[in-house]
Amino acid sequence: MKLIGPFKQIVTLANLPLRGKLADEQLQIIENGGILVKNGYVEEVASYESLYRQYPDIDTEAVKGAQICLPAFTDCHTHICFGGNRANDFAMRNGGKTYLEIAESGGGIWSSVQHTRAASDDELIQTTLERVNFLISLGITTIEIKSGYGLDVENELKMLRVIKKVQAMTEATLIPTCLAAHLKPRDFEGSNAEYLDFIVNSILPRVKEEGLAKRVDIFIEKSAFQPEESRRFLRKANELGFEITVHADQFTPGSSRIAVEVGAKSADHLEATADEDIAFLADSETVAVALPGASLGLGEKFTPARKILDANGILAIASDWNPGSAPMGNLITQASVLATFQKLSTAEVLAGLTFRSAFALGLEDRGRLEEGKKADFVTFKTDNFHNVLYRQGSLRAESVFINGRNVSN
Ligand code: NIG
Ligand code: FE
Repeated sequence: MKLIGPFKQIVTLANLPLRGKLADEQLQIIENGGILVKNGYVEEVASYESLYRQYPDIDTEAVKGAQICLPAFTDCHTHICFGGNRANDFAMRNGGKTYLEIAESGGGIWSSVQHTRAASDDELIQTTLERVNFLISLGITTIEIKSGYGLDVENELKMLRVIKKVQAMTEATLIPTCLAAHLKPRDFEGSNAEYLDFIVNSILPRVKEEGLAKRVDIFIEKSAFQPEESRRFLRKANELGFEITVHADQFTPGSSRIAVEVGAKSADHLEATADEDIAFLADSETVAVALPGASLGLGEKFTPARKILDANGILAIASDWNPGSAPMGNLITQASVLATFQKLSTAEVLAGLTFRSAFALGLEDRGRLEEGKKADFVTFKTDNFHNVLYRQGSLRAESVFINGRNVSN
């Protein structure tokens, strides 16, 4: 056992509900607190003095100066395994070019597919690991990573194998998701529905056999896959034993309903969700995932996070870090900006970055600092936890702990 502290404030997030709005007064804050860690899990969180008195002979890990401590964050939606970049797309979009013009000049998702297919395993491992390490430096210790830039058997498997190799190189938890249904690749001869059948018959069985992912995602949108074919695809993926998540309502409404109907763990994006669909989603167990990084990357509106919380939904916030729509990767900046535009309390943002986003990945063992939870936490050099969002990402994390071990040195 080890006692870590004392922290000026520990914001435990213990006892907060899984769904609905939260006021900052609901936050449990332990002043001058300590965290008792046993075998990588939290044993107790209480005043440092009282823990020290209780265990006078215990190993201690001293915290220098005033620091606050939060549960580490979970980024439940990323595409950080990719080759190349789309800086030219970004510049063209800002210069007023349309989606079609950008695609015609060699940009768009298809260009990331070509670069990812051309990249060697080592290159992809290296760049994905660098992005994982950047996220860890922000205090994010659980990271979902999608495939979706391979779009054929060989390259979808290549991406998922790369993610598995990166998992062996980091202490962060990586959760892989198969997004072969990102877009019908240009070199597939057949209809959208035939491509989705191909995924079900030729890609998912291999993913399952090799144990490469337990989750399946699809991009339901006018420019990608249509509602009916998507519904059929998701039902089949479900039958194969995969959990479901959906890129829903990014530009056109309707697909969050499909996500709820198929029992998806999460419906992500939701920038275009209609009011009546918000109520339907909020009534379900499907987590609504806001992706402010995509709104910022594209200059589009934000997910109606306020309305989702007011309707008693489960709201998580993730980065969507990808080479196209969300190139920033700084989830803390994004969450802070979302809070300002959507009028979210600090408690709502912190819940959306921790236990609520972990729940979207089916993980209930983390995201709160209380007995029995994974001892993943992040500290900031400040005496007031409000500074983390107030500084909009410019207050850097001081130390990041995974399983009770400081991994930031
Ligand atoms: O979540 N919306 C679809 N997929 C990604 C974008 C991926 C890309 O542009 O490369 C997203 O925003
Ligand atoms: Fe995405």
